[in-house]
Amino acid sequence: MSECYFTQKHDLIRKLTRDFAQTEFTKEFLDEVEESGSFSQEMLDKMAAAGFFGVKTSKDLGGQGADARSYVIVIEEIARVSAVASIYVSSPNSLSGGPLIMAGNPKQKEKYLTPVVRGEKKMVFALTEPGAGSDAGGMTSTARKEGEYYILNGRKCFITMAPLSDYAVVFAKTQQGIGTKGITAFVVDLKLPGVSFGKAENKMGVIGCATSDIIFENVRVHESDRLGMEGQGFKIAMATLDTGRLGVAAQSIGVAQGCLDEAVEYLKERKQFGKRLADFQALSFMIAEMATKLEAAKQLTYRAAYMMDTKQDITVAASMAKYYASEVCNEIAQKALQLHGGYGFIKDYKIERMFRDCRVFTIYEGTSQIQLMVIGSRLLKK
Ligand code: CAA
Repeated sequence: MSECYFTQKHDLIRKLTRDFAQTEFTKEFLDEVEESGSFSQEMLDKMAAAGFFGVKTSKDLGGQGADARSYVIVIEEIARVSAVASIYVSSPNSLSGGPLIMAGNPKQKEKYLTPVVRGEKKMVFALTEPGAGSDAGGMTSTARKEGEYYILNGRKCFITMAPLSDYAVVFAKTQQGIGTKGITAFVVDLKLPGVSFGKAENKMGVIGCATSDIIFENVRVHESDRLGMEGQGFKIAMATLDTGRLGVAAQSIGVAQGCLDEAVEYLKERKQFGKRLADFQALSFMIAEMATKLEAAKQLTYRAAYMMDTKQDITVAASMAKYYASEVCNEIAQKALQLHGGYGFIKDYKIERMFRDCRVFTIYEGTSQIQLMVIGSRLLKK
């Protein structure tokens, strides 16, 4: 049903990514990631060699030069097996790489983006603050100009991959009193004096990809590391989140498909009252409902990617896809776990991890309520 959005090239990317994910992200590997809380560098090197970190980045900068639909397919197929692995792929492609692709000059792209795409360096997106989550424009971090440098002060929180990273795209106010128009974006080297990290958060899911605060105390950032012009930062952040939200929609349909696969397998194997669970009509209706909602979520996600590839405005389409797909993913994960009965509640079965991993999808990169605000405000604009 989704075939109308894809070419043979997309089908090949899907097949290659699926083969990679199923071969590499074994249950043993993923259990080890959860137990140790870390994702092996050896695996990240393999993922970099497969080209996953620069799907949409142009070939001259070390990427694959592919389109948004290819990116969605890669995230979906990886998330179907491992949500945490899909975060390592989405970050360089969207949240951290996005601002550079969008607003970086050629020197900045070569210096920061190329090593990230090659997997030699890691970069994060630092927007959220303790007092400015959904209200991103309410940030209090400042960057005061002093000669050729900006003096950066502030605290960013919930930064995925922060303790593992080399660089951060940081948003801070260069001018007070003019709201979001006073926000500017910078690439900050996290080895600079004055940068420190909070403790790694003890998360419910997507374990193996550390999240922490980043603290900036009088950090001297050279003006050559400013992205775009002063005052353009908020628009860069919002436009980046448009593509980021498409990525979360892709993660959501991937994990939802994985949960559905697990539930279908279980119902075909498990027998109670002398017959397979699959032969109980009430349970088959649950599967049918899950599959139908998943297909609708896929359509929204693929449509948003297609709109991006055809240079249309995707703000509303990406928010609709993220909102619907992440909510449906949580519903499917919950039902898939329920269908496993008591076995769904123990870690021997994959569904327990998938259920925890997808909980964050309705929260990060803008909660479901923020997506509804974005959609509603655009539709009601005169
Ligand atoms: N693209 C380009 N520009 C945009 C835009 C977009 N998608 N959305 C808004 N803008 C522009 C507007 O046009 C406006 O510009 P003008 O003043 O020139 O007209 C400007 O930005 C301000 O827009 P708003 O008045 O709509 O801004 P707002 O302060 O009311 O906020 C919001 C809007 C949608 C609520 C926004 O703050 C938002 O998206 N909040 C959620 C933040 C979020 O998603 N955080 C997640 C952080 S990342 C993360 O989670 C990853 C992790 O590591 C955990």
